[in-house]
Amino acid sequence: MDYLDTRRSSSHSGRILAAAILITVCVIFLRQSNDRSSPSLLSTTSSAKYDQFSRHEPGVTHVLVTGGAGYIGSHATLRLLNDSYRVTIVDNLSRGNLGAVKVLQELFPEPGRLQFIYADLGDAKAVNKIFAENAFDAVMHFAAVAYVGESTQEPLRYYHNITSNTLVVLEAMATHNVKTLIYSSTCATYGEPEKMPITEETPQFPINPYGKAKKMAEDIILDFSKTNNMAVMILRYFNVIGSDPEGRLGEAPRPELREQGRISGACFDAARGIIPGLKVRGTDYNTADGTCIRDYIDVTDLVDAHVKALAHAKPGKVGIYNVGTGKGRSVKEFVEACKKATGVEIKVQFLSRRPGDYAEVFSYPSKINRELNWSAQHTLEESLQIAWRWQKSHRNGYGEQ
Ligand SMILES: NC(=O)c1ccc[n+]([C@@H]2O[C@H](COP(=O)([O-])OP(=O)(O)OC[C@H]3O[C@@H](n4cnc5c(N)ncnc54)[C@H](O)[C@@H]3O)[C@@H](O)[C@H]2O)c1
Ligand SMILES: *[C@@H]1O[C@H](CO)[C@@H](O)[C@H](O)[C@H]1NC(C)=O
Ligand SMILES: *[C@@H]1O[C@H](CO)[C@@H](O)[C@H](O)[C@H]1NC(C)=O
Ligand SMILES: *[C@@H]1O[C@H](CO)[C@@H](O)[C@H](O)[C@H]1NC(C)=O
Ligand SMILES: *[C@@H]1O[C@H](CO)[C@@H](O)[C@H](O)[C@H]1NC(C)=O
Repeated sequence: MDYLDTRRSSSHSGRILAAAILITVCVIFLRQSNDRSSPSLLSTTSSAKYDQFSRHEPGVTHVLVTGGAGYIGSHATLRLLNDSYRVTIVDNLSRGNLGAVKVLQELFPEPGRLQFIYADLGDAKAVNKIFAENAFDAVMHFAAVAYVGESTQEPLRYYHNITSNTLVVLEAMATHNVKTLIYSSTCATYGEPEKMPITEETPQFPINPYGKAKKMAEDIILDFSKTNNMAVMILRYFNVIGSDPEGRLGEAPRPELREQGRISGACFDAARGIIPGLKVRGTDYNTADGTCIRDYIDVTDLVDAHVKALAHAKPGKVGIYNVGTGKGRSVKEFVEACKKATGVEIKVQFLSRRPGDYAEVFSYPSKINRELNWSAQHTLEESLQIAWRWQKSHRNGYGEQ
């Protein structure tokens, strides 16, 4: 997360070129899909009113996946489709990858399986229209901006795209009588708790706009659910890593966002020589080896928690769950696992602490284990190995395969 400096050595123009290529690919694909089949790609047309997406069908659960072009949302969509759900993705591609949607469309081309709608959740009119024209049974709300550092620089972007957009989604759900919501929250809503591990009872005192915006969205959802007989599941994820074991999807943040630095991205960039090495900030924390401890959860396991949450969601009930492994791993351990997974002797520079980082954050996942029969299956090493395979064969993310 925040304890590695991932400043890249590559030139600015390289990044601009990569962005230009990405945009070109996106535009080409937008055209193609628009010609082909998806009636609702850029705007919903009247023909969309009569397809499978617009009718409830017994035995078929139609899930609206917001942010389905993003890292976690695309993996969730893959699992839902594989499990015979019907999925509509709404994403405005501000951060996600059209390439991921394309992979999913190619895997599930049959009519009535997957629909992609390009829209901005901040646009209440557009969102309302989407709900009017489609018969959703449930919503998995992933769409958000999600970088702690960026949130301190641009707080309004966070309150707008997290809190305010969640309100828009809830209002549309209320208007169109969609009762089931699975919400993506985060351990950042806990701030710096005094006691470890973090349980669902740990008081929430977020310390940055990202955590605060998510906490506010949680509060809005909880208040609303009390009056509305909704089925709500709030999942608070810890640090998400990994990718599809079959190598169809991966994590591919925009080049301009990689500097925001999630630790796994930094590890792979260092292994590929895009950055000279890893900078570990702080070796004198009160932990076994002196470096910070975090809880790394595999994206496939996380998605499994969503499917189980959906299966257990009940009207008038709210479930709040931490989703983590329950096992903290230090930055030093992470770096060792990264070296092993990539086979690259990554250079590591140890620096002094950075203000604002806290020593230890890890979950106590017994509630989700007990109530949803869920537990993490992947080890850190396995997750990194799987993710590295995708990273190695997709040097330019979804832009160039
Ligand atoms: N990655 C993590 O470690 C982590 C940890 C805890 C919680 N989360 C939460 O999980 C969710 C998904 O995160 P991710 O890592 O997949 O992020 P991501 O950036 O890869 O995906 C977010 C997606 O939402 C879309 N989006 C954003 N604003 C939108 C808008 N206004 N309208 C339409 N689409 C919009 C983006 O285009 C992107 O495709 C987020 O809610 C995030 O806060 C992530
Ligand atoms: C899809 O389902 C099959 C069996 O039905 C399973 O073996 C496979 O792992 C699943 N893949 C995903 C990504 O869920
Ligand atoms: C996504 O939505 C935001 C929020 O209003 C908007 O400013 C932005 O232009 C949109 N991005 C794209 C690529 O359409
Ligand atoms: C978020 O909201 C801001 C307005 O506050 C907008 O400019 C931006 O494009 C939105 N989307 C993203 C992904 O930041
Ligand atoms: C819990 O999950 C395991 C596998 O993950 C399965 O074998 C078991 O039957 C499940 N138990 C219940 C009560 O559903």
